[in-house]
Amino acid sequence: MIAILGAGSLGRLWAAKLPAGQVAFVPRPEQSAKQLAYKLRPLQGPDEQVIVPWLDYSQPTSLLIVTTKAGDTVNALAPILARFPSDTPIVLFQNGLGSQQRVAETWPDRPVLAATTTEGANRPEAGLTIHAGQGETWVGALTTTGKIHLTNSVSLLALSSLTVHAEQDILSKLWQKLIINAGINAFTAILNCPNGEILAHPFYLQWISPLCDEISKLMSASRQKEQSAKAIQNAIETVARRTARNTSSMRADILAGRNTEIDFINGYLVRLGQDYGIDTPVNQMLTEQVKQLN
Ligand code: PAF
Repeated sequence: MIAILGAGSLGRLWAAKLPAGQVAFVPRPEQSAKQLAYKLRPLQGPDEQVIVPWLDYSQPTSLLIVTTKAGDTVNALAPILARFPSDTPIVLFQNGLGSQQRVAETWPDRPVLAATTTEGANRPEAGLTIHAGQGETWVGALTTTGKIHLTNSVSLLALSSLTVHAEQDILSKLWQKLIINAGINAFTAILNCPNGEILAHPFYLQWISPLCDEISKLMSASRQKEQSAKAIQNAIETVARRTARNTSSMRADILAGRNTEIDFINGYLVRLGQDYGIDTPVNQMLTEQVKQLN
């Protein structure tokens, strides 16, 4: 059985795509219903009815997929992890950086892996999950035992027919995604606009260059492949144009009154700056402004 912790849009997408009968959601403590039912709107074709049972812990679990929000991950794993054998691979799908390292540090002997995906999924209403964009998923190990389970974890995820790759340098992939999120999400939340509209906004135009400068310095300090501020800005703007009409996950969180992942995006960069003695006034300002929206 493949267990999924976190029944948000990404968890529901994986649950719908993995073979029925081989996937279950990890139940919440108060869970009484036997299963979770919802519709999946695939990229093409009519809506599909999806029924996913809650996990019965007596069944052997080959993989634990974690699709909780970054800020909830350690607290969601802590009460349930002892119920899984110590060699069950755990694949973390959180946005940003910081939460994955916390899991790996808290359970260093467990096979912990991280994934980053460009699959698009959203949930406009409780009973409907939309597969909004075809993407790819990269998975890599965070702990020593995670390396042993990489190939097998990728094969299990690939049962979904989604495109999944093994990635030896997953940290670098997570950084590439962090750059994009750091340059788009906070601006869209503060300006309350779709991704593409930030590009012409005076607030974005004022801050994007010094923001990319901070990110470039932090990447060098973190021994990531050097990237100039200009190259970082280009990467951000390419994605903002490609996803121009999308509502970013952070703007969606604000609009729905949920906590955002700012502490694991620009907030993570602020903490990194403190560790390395690098000033990060723009990341700090964006973090504070998003927190005020919450
Ligand atoms: O977080 C998001 O919404 C997405 O990662 C991105 C790339 C900003 C597009 O909306």
